[in-house]
Amino acid sequence: MPGTLCVLGVAGGRVPPGTEPLLERARVVAGGRAVLEQLAPGKEHVVLGKDLDATLRALVERTGVVVLASGDPGFFGIVRALSVLTDDLVVHPAPSSVAVAFARLGVAWDDALVVSAHGRDPRAAINTALRHPKVAILTQPGNTELIVEALAARSPVVAEALGTPHERVHADPPFADPNVVIVHEPADGRVTIWPPRTPDRWALPEDAFAFRAGMITKAEVRALALAALGPGTGDHIWDVGCGSGSVAIECARLGAAVTAIDHDEHAIALTTRNAQTHGVPVRTVHGKAPDALAALPDPDAVFVGGGGPAVLAQAARARRAVVVTLALVDRIAPTIEQLATTFDVTATTLQANRLKPLAGGHRLAAENPVTVIVGRR
Ligand SMILES: C[S@@+](CC[C@H](N)C(=O)[O-])C[C@H]1O[C@@H](n2cnc3c(N)ncnc32)[C@H](O)[C@@H]1O
Repeated sequence: MPGTLCVLGVAGGRVPPGTEPLLERARVVAGGRAVLEQLAPGKEHVVLGKDLDATLRALVERTGVVVLASGDPGFFGIVRALSVLTDDLVVHPAPSSVAVAFARLGVAWDDALVVSAHGRDPRAAINTALRHPKVAILTQPGNTELIVEALAARSPVVAEALGTPHERVHADPPFADPNVVIVHEPADGRVTIWPPRTPDRWALPEDAFAFRAGMITKAEVRALALAALGPGTGDHIWDVGCGSGSVAIECARLGAAVTAIDHDEHAIALTTRNAQTHGVPVRTVHGKAPDALAALPDPDAVFVGGGGPAVLAQAARARRAVVVTLALVDRIAPTIEQLATTFDVTATTLQANRLKPLAGGHRLAAENPVTVIVGRR
């Protein structure tokens, strides 16, 4: 029977105080090459790198093993993989790089979202940091510059080589590895998002927004559109022809990073004002689609409140879904046809009647019919 597998966190070139004897007694020490050479000279080494699964499976069969891993190994670390392979695991964490980064900034982080762009596509991490007030991103060598560039509007800072003599917290590339990217809005003493949850209400009534001349997606239509868009933390949603920005703002309220596009400057002003009222960030682009869409990062889902075939061609960049709302019946068939070249398409014409008081009772007040066309991959 193999014995207890011991995992020690490393920060500032040291294992946690008091755990040195565990390392001294170890027969086999596993970890990154550099940390093994620094902290376990003369021991049998198992380098954790290529073919990690097979290496760990062999490791848990051995006795007298200590694994060295950066920061808190149970936080975006090796404990996840090891705990699948053995129940006999003892972890002695060091402070996580995220804890140290926030400490260096003098910022509380109990209300931070921590996301990883380590070993995965960084887009969800970027979108999370575009939307949420306090976010830490774990990076991997080579992707920090592009993350910082994408977050330029959020004034990101990079905490690099923490716990080493080369430690630095700064905002100007180039950046040294390893590093953590931090976005945080100025402290006002409030806990920013706790508990993290979606709003208790959505498909808000029209009077929750400022709008002009009936140019707002009605609540019933918005409900169906939002259900199909499925906005959430980590997503990027486009609201094309945003008008009042009601769809954009609801997507942001549900956690997504949002870009709202309109060629009408009044629509952009209304969207900006409504976003402020609801306390959510929405990036606005004043320009005509499809040209205004070409340079935007790819969306997860797109809401098209207006625009012809050329807009749909850009909307087809959506990774998940496109929702088009149409009042003009003549546009329904061509829109379905065009979306069907890329997506599975469903369409529903909504005809809502709101009950309004009349003579001590209620009458049916008909809303204009709107066709909601959904394209889904
Ligand atoms: C696999 S994760 C491990 C995180 C680790 N368990 C922790 O608690 O810090 C690796 C990432 O952690 C961050 N990281 C680890 N050590 C760091 C250091 N000394 N300074 C800055 N970031 C560090 C980097 O983003 C790195 O790419």
